[in-house]
Amino acid sequence: MSFAPVRKKEGKLINITFSATDITELRKRETELQKAYERLKVLDEIKSDFVSTASHELRTPLTIIRGYCEILHDGLLGETNEEQKSKLAVVIKKVDALLRMVSRILDFSAIEAGKLSMKIGNVSLVDIVKKEVGELKPLTSEKNQRISVELPKLPIIKGNRERIEMVCYNLIQNAVKHTPPGSKIRIEGKEHIDHLLLGVSDDGPGMPSHELDKIFDRFYTGEKPRRDKEVGTGIGLAVCRGIVEAHGGRIWAESKDGRGMSVYFTLPKK
Ligand SMILES: Nc1ncnc2c1ncn2[C@@H]1O[C@H](COP(=O)(O)OP(=O)(O)O)[C@@H](O)[C@H]1O
Ligand SMILES: [Mg+2]
Repeated sequence: MSFAPVRKKEGKLINITFSATDITELRKRETELQKAYERLKVLDEIKSDFVSTASHELRTPLTIIRGYCEILHDGLLGETNEEQKSKLAVVIKKVDALLRMVSRILDFSAIEAGKLSMKIGNVSLVDIVKKEVGELKPLTSEKNQRISVELPKLPIIKGNRERIEMVCYNLIQNAVKHTPPGSKIRIEGKEHIDHLLLGVSDDGPGMPSHELDKIFDRFYTGEKPRRDKEVGTGIGLAVCRGIVEAHGGRIWAESKDGRGMSVYFTLPKK
């Protein structure tokens, strides 16, 4: 039921209209909606629990598989020839990739639940970049890509080293993964008054400008799949954003006319 005043131009009240609609139907719909929402919320919680339990459950057997492969590789259960060794090295590398993926999913569910543990310590961004570039060497040499690193001496900051390592790893890995063989990747760091800035740029296909904000949303992997790009899970950058923001920093992407991509993030000095 509703009342509406009817006024003349100068605002004088001349009438009041009265209208009545059957609101029982509306009420019913509202209750249904509310119920559906509650059900979704419960389902979402179940999903989050499932994701984090499943990731934990995956990690244990993977770690054991990795351990046995290493023992075999190192010849501790009998001599291994060169070919066996190199095949085992491949298995170890793949298990490592799976373990990384599992921790990313775990991190992601922690970020979603607002439970990301943040042990704070001294962090050297320069050391982290060097370490992650080294870790990604096998991938970059496989794709014949060159990484140039331009880092001045940067001050030590406070933060969670492992998480910041993960951000750097994800950004460099994206530049490796989403660009064709032979691409050039550039990492640059700068010190500003109250924060450090790190940028990872490549000369690959980039992204159209209207998608540059969306790539930080979870599960976003682009509007149209590109032939020259590998498919991913779309959680890497969502995790990066969660970690950077938990540190009080900012993360964003730039792409020139869809040619080449740069992702920057900042971390406060204090
Ligand atoms: N360096 C890059 N060049 C081009 N596209 C990129 C780059 N980095 C990220 N993207 C796009 O952003 C999407 C989201 O990235 P991310 O969250 O790391 O997920 P994933 O790498 O698993 O696909 C990618 O699927 C890709 O389409
Ligand atoms: Mg990624």
